Amino acid sequence: MLSQDDVIEISEDSNWSYRPDRQTAARMIRSLESGKVLYFPHLAFALKEPERRFLSPGCSDGKAKNVSYDPRNGSIQGTSCKDQDSNDLAAMISRFAAQARALIESLFPHYTPHLEQARTSYRPMPVQRRFRSVRKDDSRLHVDAFASRPNQGKRILRVFTNVNPDGQPRVWNIGEPFEIFVPKYYRRIAPQWPGSAWLLERLGITKGKRSFYDHIMLQLHDRGKMDDAYQQNADKITFAFPPGATWLMFSDRVLHAALSGQYLLEQTFNLPVSAMQDERCSPLRILEELYQRELA
Ligand SMILES: [Fe+2]
Repeated sequence: MLSQDDVIEISEDSNWSYRPDRQTAARMIRSLESGKVLYFPHLAFALKEPERRFLSPGCSDGKAKNVSYDPRNGSIQGTSCKDQDSNDLAAMISRFAAQARALIESLFPHYTPHLEQARTSYRPMPVQRRFRSVRKDDSRLHVDAFASRPNQGKRILRVFTNVNPDGQPRVWNIGEPFEIFVPKYYRRIAPQWPGSAWLLERLGITKGKRSFYDHIMLQLHDRGKMDDAYQQNADKITFAFPPGATWLMFSDRVLHAALSGQYLLEQTFNLPVSAMQDERCSPLRILEELYQRELA
């Protein structure tokens, strides 16, 4: 049976530029890379008073799942906010993006030169539990893998902060280790048809080429989510992240499911496996060991 200590490491720090001592830093990177969630119960993202107007589902455009901000060019999508409101919302998310980056850079300075900052999202809507497709249902345990955005084995590092103003936690299930999950499905991975990666890219369905690694990760994501018995019986713990808390993890390795909550900020980073302290901990190297071949 999983215990909380198996999957979560707590840090009491409350500073976005927290520099742990050497021993703590070594422990944190080991925990992160080996598949734990690093949890900072007192690391809050402070909203400015006028920004509290964005604590409303009304700032979503009602079509996209999240408000999405691109730190590379400052563009914002998925919001109904216009003009000054849109600028102010972008400024709020941008401030979070900068703090999330500062946190990763100060905790893991070795990552800094290789860190690719991807999109930042703001999720003002309550976690949804009903989907037409179980593949899209993030309340089922899964590792992150994106159908339209292959990443050729790069890690997906995500920072989350709960900014709920009503005391509502973000409740997750956190599942068993990746090395235990994978053998349950890897023999059932469908083949990747020759030419399919080229065609998907050509048709604009994927941004870039879907490697065999991406294909396997997507299959693991889908097969795990579609397996009702697995969802019901898999070893997991339920954990409530309160407002004012921040947590981070490699979401391509940690099995997770969002059960409830509203108002969350999230920053995604990509990281080449070569930038890790121990790349053997990456899904890419774990799967290559199983398949006995290069996958990306
Ligand atoms: Fe996810």
